[in-house]
Amino acid sequence: MNFSRIVGTGSYLPSRILTNRDLERMVDTSDEWVFTRTGIRQRHVAADNENASDLALAASRRAIEAAGITPRDIDLIVVATTTPDMVFPSTACILQAKLGIKGCPAFDMQAVCSGFVYGIGAADQFMRSGQYRHALVVGAEVYSRILDWKDRSTCVLFGDGAGAVVLKADTAPGIMSCHLHADGSYADILSVPGTVRGGEVSGRPLLKMEGGTVFKFAVKVLGEVAEEALAANNLAKSDIDWLIPHQANIRIIQATARKLGLSMEKVVTTVDRHANTSAASVPLALDEAVRDGRIRAGQHVLLEGVGGGFTWGSVLIKW
Ligand code: UT7
Repeated sequence: MNFSRIVGTGSYLPSRILTNRDLERMVDTSDEWVFTRTGIRQRHVAADNENASDLALAASRRAIEAAGITPRDIDLIVVATTTPDMVFPSTACILQAKLGIKGCPAFDMQAVCSGFVYGIGAADQFMRSGQYRHALVVGAEVYSRILDWKDRSTCVLFGDGAGAVVLKADTAPGIMSCHLHADGSYADILSVPGTVRGGEVSGRPLLKMEGGTVFKFAVKVLGEVAEEALAANNLAKSDIDWLIPHQANIRIIQATARKLGLSMEKVVTTVDRHANTSAASVPLALDEAVRDGRIRAGQHVLLEGVGGGFTWGSVLIKW
């Protein structure tokens, strides 16, 4: 049997930090409102000349270095992003060129905030075919480009960043299971309803969200996918060593932990410093917990994504 295992992680955050206090000067909000409703204190914002592929490149280089390989060893690239550099080529192809390699397949995964979990799911299936040795899976976002900076109900919630992992083929998991879901009938509760048509922007390509509906949906499905992953692997809730959920709102994360009977000490959180970085949030948090030594060999790590589409899913890992 072929399996895949994460052998290197990396991440990158743009240097510019925008605090809640900075936002107080831009919209009618307060640090107190944002922090108590979301747990967010600050977010990183990309420079004008930084695109998703630039953030992805910095995170990928760190993951490749941590894996002890070179870019030439990569034979599959998946980039999860909702904020690509351009309509096409894909951000994955642009990243491939920036890494100085060619030939291997490279494609984008568009599953919004579940993108990284979907990307791991796809790459793991490729690896299980036995055809690939090293896959690079990245979540990279510049949400600052698709926010209405006059809309206080959304602009305070998101940030920019990238996280990456290298998956290596192995005879044992590694990635124990991936469960992916979608329900397109919920498209309207979280969307960027715009596109390019005849050389013009058509619609309004800025993020809009029914916050309360999204909140309830996220809490429901994050509980369900965790149960699904545990049942599929004959594990109990107490077997989870680390939960790394999508980082949208600390109250969603706390509610999910409560449902699973997990103490918050077993949950990796970055939402206070990164805000919601969509497809980048899970790999950013994963990299932090790997590098600071929290995640150790043999532990069970559960990744969870949820976001626009609606999409949601889990990845269960034996580290
Ligand atoms: O990645 C997946 C996508 N995102 C999420 O998972 C986010 C899910 N949703 C949420 O995190 C929460 O629903 C929010 C943080 C967006 C909102 O929290 P809430 O507790 O559901 O607040 P609310 O929408 O009920 O708003 C309460 C009040 C409203 O005022 P009124 O109508 O009660 O007078 C809003 O106008 O707060 C007001 N408000 C704000 N006030 C100050 C909304 N945004 C702000 C703001 N600052 N930034």
